Amino acid sequence: MPGEIPIEKMWTEYAPIYRALFSDRDFEGQMNYLVSVADISSGSRVLELFAGPAFHGRVLLDQGFEVTSLDQSSWMRDIALVPSDRYIVAKLPLGLNAIAANEKFDACLALFFSLPFLEDIEVESLIRVIKEQLKPGGRILLELHEMRAPLAHPETTEIGSLGRKHVGLISGHLGTAVFESQVVEHKNGYAYVVNIIDVNTVHDHLRFVSRERVYTVQDIETLAAHIGGLRFECIPTNPELFPDALLVLLTKM
Ligand SMILES: C[S@@+](CC[C@H](N)C(=O)[O-])C[C@H]1O[C@@H](n2cnc3c(N)ncnc32)[C@H](O)[C@@H]1O
Repeated sequence: MPGEIPIEKMWTEYAPIYRALFSDRDFEGQMNYLVSVADISSGSRVLELFAGPAFHGRVLLDQGFEVTSLDQSSWMRDIALVPSDRYIVAKLPLGLNAIAANEKFDACLALFFSLPFLEDIEVESLIRVIKEQLKPGGRILLELHEMRAPLAHPETTEIGSLGRKHVGLISGHLGTAVFESQVVEHKNGYAYVVNIIDVNTVHDHLRFVSRERVYTVQDIETLAAHIGGLRFECIPTNPELFPDALLVLLTKM
């Protein structure tokens, strides 16, 4: 049995596995839903943060939006679905300085459990700098873990396995991925979701472990009030398009 590999490696040398493993969401459906509920006009300028392979950016680009994707990983840029001149490699939150102060966006996305990889002080600083990059009325769309039930019952640890997936790897080989377990851990007053993902390809047997800090809707609401100048709203949940997720919209006033 191989040792556990931190999920962060799936964003670097194993980026093709990330892209294969997480490409089965309905990105067009997700973006149509978000654009409609957040009322983002077509052709707007959108900043896709924590872009990974730019699954969402690609959909928007195809629909005529002006997209800039940003991620800390040059490996992700190498396999991204948007052209590399639209993809900035920079580490958040400070990396937003890589974007000129006068370049303003209509909307900014942080989708698929990306905030959980930042400390709360970094999330605060990120929201402050995004706010500066937005036009008045600009939107921030955040996807958060749906953890209301487990958090209401702190004795809960196991929250159910996500099952098995077949993965079509970029190399053309087929592999399997088993989402072995999903548990909640409580540490220093914070809750984390821990996922073990066991990936088998013809070449490798890899066990990834992901520890994701849970940010609740209330955490973001409190933060937005503290930062000021942001209107906070919950977007109606849509478990078919966004399983296990809650969606939050912040609008720059
Ligand atoms: C869970 S993936 C999400 C990717 C994509 N949004 C999706 O829907 O598949 C998280 C991504 O965030 C990036 N990331 C994590 N921490 C970051 C940071 N501090 N600054 C910039 N990117 C970061 C990782 O490199 C990775 O590509």
